[in-house]
Amino acid sequence: MKHCLPLHHMLLVCACALLPLPVLADLALATAKNCMACHNIDKKVVGPAYKDVAAKYRGDKNASARLTAKVMEGGGGVWGVVKMPSNPQVSEAEAKKLVAWVLSQ
Ligand code: HEC
Repeated sequence: MKHCLPLHHMLLVCACALLPLPVLADLALATAKNCMACHNIDKKVVGPAYKDVAAKYRGDKNASARLTAKVMEGGGGVWGVVKMPSNPQVSEAEAKKLVAWVLSQ
């Protein structure tokens, strides 16, 4: 039965390929765009935790558009006295993608 082993091994490798890569890709984008310098997923750093942002805007259908603009332009007054600076390193499409990811935390 020794010849069965390589097939078994291959099936295991295939199962690993099914891991949720988009989630990791968006974390990688947030890291690459410097968002994680001020934010963490589940704790406040300079900016609010992404889980808190997601909880605050749950059910708010305008949140996505408003936050996309805010990520690009920066702004303050919602979470405290510290303002988020503008993020000219992200395009509108990237900002949209990042906000969708933040709101899904
Ligand atoms: C220099 C620090 C800093 C960086 C870099 C930064 N943020 Fe922020 N962010 C903040 C602060 C501070 C706030 C809170 C602003 C407020 O109270 O309105 C915030 C708020 C937010 C909010 C919630 C806004 C609201 O009105 O509720 C989102 C979403 C967000 N940031 C996403 C991002 C994304 C995506 C990036 C990367 C492109 C990023 N941030 C980079 C500091 C930062």
